[in-house]
Amino acid sequence: MEPTVAVIGATGAVGDVFLRVAAEREFPMKKLKLLASSRSAGTVLHYRGQPITVEETTEASLEDADLVFCSASSEVSKRWGPWLRERGKVMIDDGSAFRMDPTVPLVIPEVNGDDLEWHQGIISIPNCTTTPLAMALNAMRQVAPLYRVTAATYQAVSGTGAAAVRELNAQVAAIGRGEPVPPPTVYPVQIAMNVLPQVDDFDEDDYTKEELKMRNETRKILHEQDLRFAATCVRVPVAITHAEVVHVEFTREAPMAQLHQALKNHPGIVLIEDPKQYVTPLQVEGDDRTYVCRLRPDRTVDHGVTFWCLTDNLRKGAATNAIQIAEELLKRGKI
Ligand SMILES: NC(=O)c1ccc[n+]([C@@H]2O[C@H](COP(=O)([O-])OP(=O)(O)OC[C@H]3O[C@@H](n4cnc5c(N)ncnc54)[C@H](OP(=O)(O)O)[C@@H]3O)[C@@H](O)[C@H]2O)c1
Repeated sequence: MEPTVAVIGATGAVGDVFLRVAAEREFPMKKLKLLASSRSAGTVLHYRGQPITVEETTEASLEDADLVFCSASSEVSKRWGPWLRERGKVMIDDGSAFRMDPTVPLVIPEVNGDDLEWHQGIISIPNCTTTPLAMALNAMRQVAPLYRVTAATYQAVSGTGAAAVRELNAQVAAIGRGEPVPPPTVYPVQIAMNVLPQVDDFDEDDYTKEELKMRNETRKILHEQDLRFAATCVRVPVAITHAEVVHVEFTREAPMAQLHQALKNHPGIVLIEDPKQYVTPLQVEGDDRTYVCRLRPDRTVDHGVTFWCLTDNLRKGAATNAIQIAEELLKRGKI
């Protein structure tokens, strides 16, 4: 089946990468519709060299779509998800609106692709910091059960969207010219030459929503509701690719050689075996894989390791994961 595909949020940071990834992977489509808000209606984008005019997201523009990728905002997902579901269409949602809904699978195909079997029309993809972490943990728990996980993130500004990338670039350019830095509008303080120990709003127990998303989503994807988990999410002045320092404690011994093998065997993961070697966000940008580097023992606990983990937040953290879900749905006959 070649579905008619609509992309809500086609003009955004994720939408832009979505079009590139879909073209690279030659995702089968009968027709492609590019949608956004009324602000961008009439803009012309290109897919595989062909111009496509962006339309406003309306009932009329969604009517003939079989499969909808939504990368806009929670409000937009909530507006259109139930409407599409009632009409027997499938929505793959990049946002957080439905991730913790028990009727909605939250999927990384390499980890829990089988959860697609019970979808009811809406499928969520995880937050872009959750995806690489859940992949690495899924590989490692093949060796020994997980007991406790802590993480500190180094998150790129593109995770906030296209406006945040423009803000960082404008501040860096002003600094380069020796001019006053334009006042921030996206972040609460200047992001260039700085780091912010806050991603999203503060919430329960003084954690931010991003930190709680990492915990709750990881538990849901791994089907480990009691996993002990705490994260601190930090925004850094990097354009693309989220990095994380992760500490994992196991319930029993997890031999390093077996962890290496499990990570090497896991689809979508690249392990840099020499713990003195590593990759940085700039090297991972444009790559669909999750990198695990600097894997070494954590001697502060009985059975622990720590490592540096990275993924391109716009690709595997968003667009690529969404397209892989759609490919898996087609393979399983679930669209
Ligand atoms: N960036 C990441 O790394 C990442 C990773 C995973 C998930 N996500 C999620 O993906 C979603 C989009 O993120 P982004 O970074 O691409 O944001 P973005 O760059 O700010 O783009 C937002 C997109 O949403 C569209 N939009 C806004 N209001 C709309 C409306 N009322 N109806 C239809 N479309 C509307 C915008 O269209 P206009 O041009 O008309 O304004 C634009 O295309 C968010 O839910 C985010 O949480 C992002």
